[in-house]
Amino acid sequence: MSPRKQKELAEGAGSPPRHIAIIMDGNGRWAKKRGLPRTAGHAAGVESFRRAAKYCRRIGVEYLTVYAFSTENWKRPLEEVQAIMGLLKKYLGEALEGLAAEQTRLCFFGDLTALSPELQALCLDCAEKSKNYQGGQVNVCLNYGGRDEIVRAAKKWAAEGCPELTEERFGSYLWSAGVPDPDLLIRPGGETRISNYLLWQMAYTEMVFSDVLWPDFDEREIDKAIEIYHSRNRRYGDVGKQEE
Ligand code: FPP
Repeated sequence: MSPRKQKELAEGAGSPPRHIAIIMDGNGRWAKKRGLPRTAGHAAGVESFRRAAKYCRRIGVEYLTVYAFSTENWKRPLEEVQAIMGLLKKYLGEALEGLAAEQTRLCFFGDLTALSPELQALCLDCAEKSKNYQGGQVNVCLNYGGRDEIVRAAKKWAAEGCPELTEERFGSYLWSAGVPDPDLLIRPGGETRISNYLLWQMAYTEMVFSDVLWPDFDEREIDKAIEIYHSRNRRYGDVGKQEE
């Protein structure tokens, strides 16, 4: 075994990314292609999320963070917003058994106070009842925006009287406090932008964009994205591994 291979193994090369973030895009187009209402696309998107969460857990991904509803998504037609909230309610109402079986913590990034009291209660109940599970963590970004998160963090810091500021301390004011930064961002659906997602956390995240629409983004597509991730040379500003 070459010294380089030994070093790669010691560094955990080939192991799954510790944290995967996903922008679940393409639900509307998936539905349109089938002559279905957009809400049917979101329902299929929830099934794809369930499948992805299960698969990530199986292959040893510790953290999965998904963009379920952004601070900008309120601009969508009321009917669509209500349908997404309804799907979330249904999912959360059924989630506890699966979280217990998979020993997965469910957490939320975003200001939940804008949601209905019933939905807020479901979020808090799932988070509270799953908080000690040790099998991995799923973060659902709900009423989440990266800029909003940074502004809120700055306000929390100011409210504490502006203590000496480091990157670590700033990170502790974010919704993601205590969660390692994503190693891999996957955006299905053909767009190549980050849409106000995890702006602080993705400073060194590898990004993989795919044309496959989210409801069709299955285990094989996740494997492909991970394979691309492994082909990248993460340098974090350093010169990184040079070819032998
Ligand atoms: C983007 O596709 C998708 C959303 C804005 C909503 C995603 C929400 C869900 C899948 C429900 C989340 C539920 C759980 C339980 C995590 P789009 O509508 O922008 O698709 P398009 O670009 O094809 O129109």
